[in-house]
Amino acid sequence: MSASTLFSPLTLPNGVVIKNRLCKAAMEENMAEYGQLPGQQLYTLYGQWSEGGVGLMLTGNVMVAANALTGPGGVVLDNEDHLGRFEKWAQIGTANNTQFWMQISHPGRQLYANMGEQALSPSDVALEMGSFSKMFAAPRALTEAEIQEIIERFAKTAQLAEKAGFGGVQIHSAHGYLISQFLSPLVNQREDQWGGELANRARFLFSIVERVRAAVSPQFCVAVKLNSADFQKGGFSAEDSKWVVSQLNSMGLDLIELSGGSYESPAMQGNPADSSTGRREAYFIDFAREIAAVSDIPIMVTGGIRRFDIAEQALSEEGGLPAVDMLGVATAMAYHPDLPNLWRNGDALDVQIPPIQWKNRTMAALGTMSVIKHQLKQLSLGKPVQPGVNAVLATLRDRIKASRQASRYRKWRETSA
Ligand SMILES: Cc1cc2nc3c(=O)[nH]c(=O)nc-3n(C[C@H](O)[C@H](O)[C@H](O)COP(=O)(O)O)c2cc1C
Repeated sequence: MSASTLFSPLTLPNGVVIKNRLCKAAMEENMAEYGQLPGQQLYTLYGQWSEGGVGLMLTGNVMVAANALTGPGGVVLDNEDHLGRFEKWAQIGTANNTQFWMQISHPGRQLYANMGEQALSPSDVALEMGSFSKMFAAPRALTEAEIQEIIERFAKTAQLAEKAGFGGVQIHSAHGYLISQFLSPLVNQREDQWGGELANRARFLFSIVERVRAAVSPQFCVAVKLNSADFQKGGFSAEDSKWVVSQLNSMGLDLIELSGGSYESPAMQGNPADSSTGRREAYFIDFAREIAAVSDIPIMVTGGIRRFDIAEQALSEEGGLPAVDMLGVATAMAYHPDLPNLWRNGDALDVQIPPIQWKNRTMAALGTMSVIKHQLKQLSLGKPVQPGVNAVLATLRDRIKASRQASRYRKWRETSA
């Protein structure tokens, strides 16, 4: 394959063209200003990425409901009151002919207890994370009316994103958040039309996709981020994932991103609970190729892409299986926001990031996130990244910041109630 494939345009099913095959994958920034709104830090950060030459950018989680945030510094979009803030974000993100899409999410039971809200989930099955479990609010099962309300919320947020000038939305159905909880037989123990066999467990996702597609215009892109598997015994499996994609084929989507894992099993960091993704680079590529073979929708794979050669390989056929269409890159783009420009200009830079190998899996996952978030913070302040930052200090600072943000959030909720 020639290096040009990475920089060849991709035409999506709705006719929208992405200028190259690299996507800045979603990274929750934790930079919302008071009222859970985007502001200067996010504008500076996304300005750097759009100038860096990437074809597609996804925001980090943007929440569809003010009472359910994946983290205390998360952005919420559920009404028009401050749409101007989002318009500015969209303007900056779409500069340089970049496609800029909003990732829309609901955490379900992956809700921190210090947010002070009731966690909602398909069933009242709490997260099992050993001594870390108590960091999360105990979930209660959603009622039928609440399920319908959340479906409508996804559609409303998508509509608002289009109005603000974003080019699309991505429905976050991976990583153990609410839609992923519905898909999981371990978490979803409902006995009504939303639980039981896979067709029922997937009904929530399909209903959201249908409502979102109907609420926006045809030129507005609609994507899904889906787990290739949860990497948990008895969880949402690779076979389940294949079936879900086969059904999504006819639902008017423009892109499917494949990832994997959850808070309980952080496979998206290459560290699943069941140790099944032995491969240390591009962890989900084999599965993504199999899916690409049966999918009419372009496929993007995300996870572990740091090297130019690996990126090129993923975009070529291998072993009789097709190439994937797009590559999602998160961590490497936090260290090099101009990675696409570097690669395009012939600098085959391999991004080297020493893994955090703390014994405790959950602490290691937190530490990894904190070090990367530290780089995002540096970029958002217009400062250089600090690859050598001390991981323990970065984690401590991140925890302190999160606790301050949680108390600001609780105050906001009290005053806006
Ligand atoms: C700091 C950080 C925040 C993240 N936040 C999100 C998020 O908001 N939504 C999401 O779908 N994935 C999120 N992810 C996961 C990434 O999108 C991606 O799936 C994962 O990091 C693997 O890709 P990578 O190896 O290129 O980093 C986050 C990852 C990091 C490191």
